[in-house]
Parts: sequence; structure tokens; C-alpha cells
Amino acid sequence: MYDRLQKHESITERYPLFLEYVKGYMDSKLPSVSNYANFSALVYDFFDDVNWAGFYLVKDDVLYLGPFQGKPACTEIRLGSGVCGTSAQMKKTLIVKDTSTFEGHIVCDSASRSEIVIPLIKNGVLIGVLDIDSPLLNRFTDQDRETLEKAVVFLIDIL
Ligand code: SME
Repeated sequence: MYDRLQKHESITERYPLFLEYVKGYMDSKLPSVSNYANFSALVYDFFDDVNWAGFYLVKDDVLYLGPFQGKPACTEIRLGSGVCGTSAQMKKTLIVKDTSTFEGHIVCDSASRSEIVIPLIKNGVLIGVLDIDSPLLNRFTDQDRETLEKAVVFLIDIL
């Protein structure tokens, strides 16, 4: 049974625990969609002040909405478009401190003020992005990036 253990309130305790849960839940025997779904649920539960967490997955050079937690979102993003498409094209994690200053930012939930996008690259090939939004300005730190990039490595490894 899943229990996030509410007493782990400090990030120093919670982020290592998040990585343990990711390792525990990711399962190479499952269809990818099941792993993406549980991964997004773990991010949504473990990270404070997050209003959207989920995946866009590449098909025919377009990012299509995948499993996520949060409000309904836009379903297609072109490579190079918005924060997700830019991160995908650059194959690089992007942290946007203030989405209103990012030219071409695609608004899905007007509550979102800052965002982190991490590309998923398997054997050198882009397969999608992990996108996380916050209603707070400047929410995402280098510690968030490091933790999420480690978690994405576990995920990609079992896909
Ligand atoms: N803001 C993203 C679009 C996806 S939603 O935030 C879920 C972007 O600019 O690519």
C-alpha cells in the first residue's frame, strides 16, 4: 500500500524517499503508460506547490499529452514551441522562474507561474519530456532539478 509518510516533511528526508519510491514503483514488465502514470503521481505527491506534473511523448516529431496529474492540458506541442518543445529540441532541462517572461510559453493552466521541463532521452533518442508547473514564482531549484533528473534516469532505464 502506498503511504507517503507525512512525517517526512523536510526536503532532505523527502527527496531521497521520493527516489526510493520511484525505484520501487517503476517496473520494466509493465506497459510504459503505467510507469508514466505512477511516476507523475509520485511527483505530484512528493513535490510541494505543484499544480501540474506529467508527460508529453514524441510521436511523428510532435509532443502529445501523456499521463499526468492536474487540470486538463493542451494535447499537442510542436518541437521548438513553448517550454516543453524548447527543452525537447535542446535536449536540455529548462527551469523557467517566471513563465510570463518566457517568449512562446504555452498557457495550459493560468495558475502556473513557474515551470521545469526535463527531456527524456533513451539511447540518444528523444522520447518525450517531463513537465512540472507551480503556481509560485521561482519554485524550482537546482536541488529539484538534480532529484528529478535522477528519477528520470530510473524511469528511462526500465522503459
Ligand atoms: N507550459 C507548457 C505547456 C504544457 S502545460 O504547462 C501542462 C509549455 O510552455 O510548453
